Amino acid sequence: MTLLPKNSDGCPFLLLAPMEGIGDRTFRKAMAQAACGFDEAVTEFISVPSNAHVKSLAKIYLSDETAPIPLAAQIMGNAPELMAAMTESLQERGAHRIDLNCGCPSNTVTGRGAGSSLLKCPTSLYTVAKSMVKAAKVPITLKMRSGFQDTSLFKENLLAAQESGVHYITLHPRTKEDGYGPPAKWELIAEAKSLLKIPVVGNGDILTKEDALKMLKMTKCDALMIGRGSVINPFIFHEIKAHFSSSKHCLKWKSIKQYLDVYLSEIHPGSPMKNKINKLKQLMSFLFKRTPKLLEKRQVILTSTPATLEAFMEFALPILQEYGEWN
Ligand SMILES: Cc1cc2nc3c(=O)[nH]c(=O)nc-3n(C[C@H](O)[C@H](O)[C@H](O)COP(=O)(O)O)c2cc1C
Repeated sequence: MTLLPKNSDGCPFLLLAPMEGIGDRTFRKAMAQAACGFDEAVTEFISVPSNAHVKSLAKIYLSDETAPIPLAAQIMGNAPELMAAMTESLQERGAHRIDLNCGCPSNTVTGRGAGSSLLKCPTSLYTVAKSMVKAAKVPITLKMRSGFQDTSLFKENLLAAQESGVHYITLHPRTKEDGYGPPAKWELIAEAKSLLKIPVVGNGDILTKEDALKMLKMTKCDALMIGRGSVINPFIFHEIKAHFSSSKHCLKWKSIKQYLDVYLSEIHPGSPMKNKINKLKQLMSFLFKRTPKLLEKRQVILTSTPATLEAFMEFALPILQEYGEWN
């Protein structure tokens, strides 16, 4: 049975990318309740440091958070026994799939040998992934960049991942050194696809429906994962689906308003007002990239100093409505 079934109209399986910080529980809730269109979501990485108490760490994960859309768990670490124990704990908590992070570029993470550091040594990548596969009753998958400093170990890492028994890989084709700078090298997704027997999920720089179609055509990847493009346009998944079902997707102001309402209701009520406003500003910083006119207004929004969330919404919403090109 494939883990990445196509929709009946031929639309590929669509995944909402893990995004630590911006793509947290609040965002996932709003996406699942008011935007939808994606077939599965993944948590941001749950870090498993060498002193981790895995049972208590696993409690962060709530498998029904985006129900009825399934939510997979992603973990990041490099100690095989702990990663195996964490896999077991997450599985007990209802995770239907567990993903190994081999992409995080943060120096605090890579300094500890986890995330994209695993790409420096295919044997380490294999050992960590294998420890999870052995411990799991559910499918294990792996998300990776194209390399650490360069792509010299690209093929070796892909083959080590496949050999470990993971069900599929998701490829964000930039190296750790690239960060988010140069354009994602989609030709590497095509290369992975022709090298591997296991499925490949394409990821990186899909900002529009047209980008999604172009990536599919260029790489022949099995499924698509979208991150930042979905924060800029929460209805991007719908637009892709509408293309395959030959229906017309209208981006309605009412829908984006509903999405923002859910987002606001999910912001932790106990956190200080300054934090709540900063959180909303962070989301707006993406939404205000949607059209050239919104982009012009972005700085004014981000440098405003509202006293409450309501005051911020009163200021930002009319601008978002006027310049967002909604129906
Ligand atoms: C703010 C932010 C946080 C991210 N956090 C994670 C993470 O926790 N786990 C992970 O595998 N990738 C993480 N990523 C990488 C994304 O999942 C994705 O691979 C990358 O952004 C490229 O896809 P995109 O162009 O569709 O955003 C993060 C990216 C961003 C921008």
